[in-house]
Amino acid sequence: IAVEIHPSAKEGSKAAAHEIAALIREKAAANQKCVLGMATGSTPKYLYAELVRLHKEEGLSFKNVITFNLDEYYPIEPDALQSYNRFMKEHLFNHIDIPEGQYHIPDGTIPKDQIKQYCADYDRRIEEAGGIDIQILGIGNNGHIGFNEPGSNINSHTRLVTLDNSTRLANAYEFPNMSQVPRLAITMGLSTIFKAKKVILMAWGSHKAKIVCRSVEGQSTDQVPASLLQQHPNCKFVIDEQASAELT
Ligand code: F6R
Repeated sequence: IAVEIHPSAKEGSKAAAHEIAALIREKAAANQKCVLGMATGSTPKYLYAELVRLHKEEGLSFKNVITFNLDEYYPIEPDALQSYNRFMKEHLFNHIDIPEGQYHIPDGTIPKDQIKQYCADYDRRIEEAGGIDIQILGIGNNGHIGFNEPGSNINSHTRLVTLDNSTRLANAYEFPNMSQVPRLAITMGLSTIFKAKKVILMAWGSHKAKIVCRSVEGQSTDQVPASLLQQHPNCKFVIDEQASAELT
């Protein structure tokens, strides 16, 4: 895994945003679509702010962009405060010119008996779009990517999963109290993520230092899903100095 260390989260996010913008422009010049895999949570906030700035101030258009988000709580209404559908609109989609219908976020309201089909369709739509050109990831304290918790199968597809309690605890700050944090989520699978042509995992802050080190320098194991990225041919970690503190 290549590791790019920046002085701060802001600078790392800018570098990632500029890399994404360059690919969007290159694809647009060739009349091609650019397919992006998106993450939510606190990690990509600056990234999206910079993409919005590039759109508003530097003419970056998203007309040729198709996106697929990694995950969504289940069940959850799309307009709930904690919903990733709402997050993406507030941080990105409401502020850029991506045509409606070109962004996809797992739907937290799908009836349970239709989820299997829904997830299979989600993977199929990614394939029909030509596959993901750049997948953006954050990393959980337990090494999860998307909501693929420790023990997830490397061949897993998009599916309904049970959140680890540590994940529910880490995300509890978004909810009125712990009991309101959903126990389930829909997530892209590890195989879905691994099919991306390029993966950029971002991590900021000292609380991510330990898991970043385990993922980059530790054994590649399904007990630390991000460590499986060692097996991806084109993956880099974009991190700040604090998150790099444990690397040798
Ligand atoms: C979010 C996602 C999660 C987060 C991870 C880190 O779409 O897939 O894997 O990236 O939980 O969350 P933050 O960025 O809030 O530290």
